[in-house]
Amino acid sequence: MIHLYQAPKTADAPIFLFLHGTGGTEQDLVGLVSLLDSEAGYLSVRGEVSENGMPRFFKRLAEGIFDEEDLALRTARLIQFLRDQAAERSFDLDRLIPVGYSNGANIAANMLFEEALFKQAILLHPMVPRRGVTLPDLSDVRVFIGAGSNDPICPAQETEELSALLKQAGASVDVTWSNYGHQLVMPTIEAATDWLKQ
Ligand code: MLT
Repeated sequence: MIHLYQAPKTADAPIFLFLHGTGGTEQDLVGLVSLLDSEAGYLSVRGEVSENGMPRFFKRLAEGIFDEEDLALRTARLIQFLRDQAAERSFDLDRLIPVGYSNGANIAANMLFEEALFKQAILLHPMVPRRGVTLPDLSDVRVFIGAGSNDPICPAQETEELSALLKQAGASVDVTWSNYGHQLVMPTIEAATDWLKQ
């Protein structure tokens, strides 16, 4: 998979797993590392699906309607890629903290729907990736959700539902709301930075 990697500066610093939104690339979110934790490293991945030239992490049938077969396949491929990277670069997989925006947040959430792979995750404007499934035990997982109260792509009720599903599975979930639609704004990043320090 096309990706960028920067090693963490210290032995116990996290490694952010940056997952971009539709039409983005592996370059998009890497600038956040210095804001979130200047000691941290990152692994930033480009989605393998192209929707009219726009990279994504899985196919969709329409806006907000996901191709669940493709989502399952792409999620498994991404998890395998992460396991391979962890082995190759000699870090523990749960040192990765996904930081996903929009489509990237949706595949990050879906990885957690499959397996408690991470101890922490930052989901920026996510949706519910799948419904009617049993989640794994997420009681050791902390999740930060940054959502838009007036986000036309990820409506507030999706955030509430995702938060409830993660909590039912045992995760600790903190939601921060902004009021700028689907845009990723600095107050959300600042809230995520504070949350990481807690
Ligand atoms: C998705 O397709 O994952 C969501 O609708 C968000 C997006 O537009 O990327």
